[in-house]
Amino acid sequence: MECLDRIMGLSPVIPVMVIDDPDQAVPLATALYRGGLKVLEVTLRTEYGLQAIADIGQALPDAVVGAGTVITPDDVKTARQAGARFLVSPGCTPRLLASAQAEDIALLPGVNTPSEAMLLLEQGLRHLKFFPAETAGGVAMLKSIAGPLPQLRFCPTGGINPQNAASYLDLPNVACVGGTWMLDKRAIAAGDWDTVERLSREVAGLSR
Ligand code: 3PG
Repeated sequence: MECLDRIMGLSPVIPVMVIDDPDQAVPLATALYRGGLKVLEVTLRTEYGLQAIADIGQALPDAVVGAGTVITPDDVKTARQAGARFLVSPGCTPRLLASAQAEDIALLPGVNTPSEAMLLLEQGLRHLKFFPAETAGGVAMLKSIAGPLPQLRFCPTGGINPQNAASYLDLPNVACVGGTWMLDKRAIAAGDWDTVERLSREVAGLSR
């Protein structure tokens, strides 16, 4: 099983990719990777997600490609078969956790309360997504959690933007952040991969 501590340490930002056009998956991932984003999350939110994970994994073997929006045990299985190296979920259920453990694949589950975090800590998880970060209390909430639960490391996602990313990355319990803000829709629609690469280089340069 991949080590989430290592994956979350590879880049300060994990782009959350929603693939609407299957032909764009590899060029988009290549631009992000060239810009310095080594970890890519491809959501299973569209019908092209699984194929995109397989295609990107083949085209960019050194990138770490994970599946996002993993909700069901079936998602866990199909994402793993497609080559996902880790899974991200907006929340967690006992069935989801059990199936990730049975498939021996790293799961980054979403939480936004201390009790949810403690339930997963009891199961041995220390790496969690904090979702939806901005609406669930943002930087102030994560600061409050760091006191009683310093062993946890978070990837805040949801509402992260160029104005607030640095303040999340400054926190001792934040390993990296996730989001879509660097995925410029106009550039992607135009196939302007140089712009995507430049934007990704900007966020890859954020310090922790
Ligand atoms: C999502 O739900 O798509 C992710 O959390 C990304 O959220 P964002 O678009 O606010 O970055």
